[in-house]
Amino acid sequence: MTANRKPRVLVTREVFDETLDYLRQHCEVIDNQGDRPYAPEALGKALAACDGLMCSLTDRVDAALLAAAPNLKAVANIAVGYNNIDVTACTVRGVMATNTPGVLDDSTADLAWTLMLGAARRITEVERRVRTGEWTGWRLKQWLGVDVHHATLGIIGMGRIGQAIARRAVGFDMKVIYHNRKPIQPELERKANASYVAFDALLAQSDFIVLQVPYSPATHHLIGAAQLVKMKPSAILINSTRGGVVDDAALIAALKNGTIRAAGLDVYENEPKLNPEFLALDNVVLAPHVGSSTEATRQAMAMLAAKNLVAALKGETPPNLLNPEALRG
Ligand code: GLV
Repeated sequence: MTANRKPRVLVTREVFDETLDYLRQHCEVIDNQGDRPYAPEALGKALAACDGLMCSLTDRVDAALLAAAPNLKAVANIAVGYNNIDVTACTVRGVMATNTPGVLDDSTADLAWTLMLGAARRITEVERRVRTGEWTGWRLKQWLGVDVHHATLGIIGMGRIGQAIARRAVGFDMKVIYHNRKPIQPELERKANASYVAFDALLAQSDFIVLQVPYSPATHHLIGAAQLVKMKPSAILINSTRGGVVDDAALIAALKNGTIRAAGLDVYENEPKLNPEFLALDNVVLAPHVGSSTEATRQAMAMLAAKNLVAALKGETPPNLLNPEALRG
């Protein structure tokens, strides 16, 4: 920060008052408390004279945007996933990029479990039936679900959130298997009570499959028709990470023809314009990308993003710097 001028930052979406109060102690802030998302060109214009950007996963930060913001020094994403940011393009321009790891692990793990339990016990479907008056009384074979307890949980992507999902399985007496680029430390495996298996073995053995890998070209359509047929017909698939990890059209076909039993989704390809065929299916629980959406967690994420941004603009190394290479050169 220069001695005589506070750095100027743009906050692209609505944030908490405390987030803005903190930012304003250190920066001149252009806020968007009206929460109207910027179109890409408008974002470029708004950013032209800014030193910092606090953005969300709905904003695309790419080479074209960076070119429109010659003074930009730092981009702070209010999310742990950062597939909306071209980190390489940031590095090329010497722009620091940060995310918000750690503070949302438990809330996101809770939501993955909400989807698992919801899909297993058909909770959104039966709730609809109550609301429409279709429920006329108790019957033995009414809207039968499947047990979560004592089932096998397969987690694909065993980072902090995957491990938090695994730890919750202890109380359900589940067997937990996982697949990851490489096995996690034995100590973490022990805490998660989970064993590493090959990808195809996980698909074949799991009753519940939870996806927790970050989205990237390498994980695009990690689950498509070829993987869905390798799952048990009784399997339930949970996507609590990012749209695009699952081929939604292939999943819809699998849910329709009984290739797998059910799914629980918090994220979609092209969200929020999800494939309308999902809406007609009873065997899918649909959530609107609310994995981290508790009051405490979203506040913590926004504050962590603000702290990352302020540190970067003060010339310090922000706590969650994604591209230390941006500092060299
Ligand atoms: C939410 O999806 C996040 O990546 O933080």
